[in-house]
Amino acid sequence: MNGSNSGANSQLILALSKGRIFDDTLPLLEAAGITVKDNPETSRKLILATNDPNVRVIIVRATDVPTYVQYGAADFGVAGKDVLLEHGGEGLYQPIDLNIAACRMAVAVQAGFDYATAVRQGARLRVATKFVETAREHFAAKGVHVDLIKLYGSMELAPLVGLSDAIVDVVSTGNTLRANNLVEVEHIMEISSRLVVNQAALKLKRERLQPIIEAFERASKNQG
Ligand code: ATP
Ligand code: PRP
Ligand code: MG
Repeated sequence: MNGSNSGANSQLILALSKGRIFDDTLPLLEAAGITVKDNPETSRKLILATNDPNVRVIIVRATDVPTYVQYGAADFGVAGKDVLLEHGGEGLYQPIDLNIAACRMAVAVQAGFDYATAVRQGARLRVATKFVETAREHFAAKGVHVDLIKLYGSMELAPLVGLSDAIVDVVSTGNTLRANNLVEVEHIMEISSRLVVNQAALKLKRERLQPIIEAFERASKNQG
């Protein structure tokens, strides 16, 4: 797994998504002596320069970070455990939990829906989610029969309009669930974001990557 980025061994490309991952990774980069020169919220640029001419940041969708790193188009990246579980982790080395973008994966239903009874009676449940692999595994382990409906966002809407009985989504403050009259009925797992490194880059660019990984590791211990 080594893409077009393989020639220049001193060049490093870091894949980040806009928003919380970019914002929470900035202090870790600073700890490694790297300052990003553009702000993805105001610039339309997708390749961002840093104070180090050998380090650039690319801005991709959160779910695409593992793909860029897997194929070596980026040497390393930051992605949520939720996203990594859906991707499968092929071609990725995952050295550290950065303790950023912390949330939990949960099952939620509309307030008033008797989830426990439905499960006990062996009802077949319709579950809407972006996280079909995680949801499939969770319900299979419990022996609950489900029809999974793949969505790409606004999962909280699905039970309100009769698309599904339940959702599997990430929850942090619980504000989105409350605002939509939903309640959490099952905790699936804690989620945080991880550093992922292309396996070939780790070998070929170890000298450049290792100090950054170590700086991230030290700085991330003070997070969360
Ligand atoms: P996209 O907008 O491209 O669909 P996304 O919604 O997954 O992607 P973000 O909202 O930036 O992108 O989420 C990035 C990561 O942050 C997620 O993979 C998850 O691990 C974590 N996350 C998501 N929502 C929250 C939240 N409310 N609080 C804390 N962390 C969160
Ligand atoms: C995420 C997630 C939930 C919400 C949960 O949405 O998809 O809807 O956060 O957080 P809460 O429990 O604190 O309300 P996000 O803010 O990423 O918006 P998005 O729909 O643009 O992904
Ligand atoms: Mg989001």
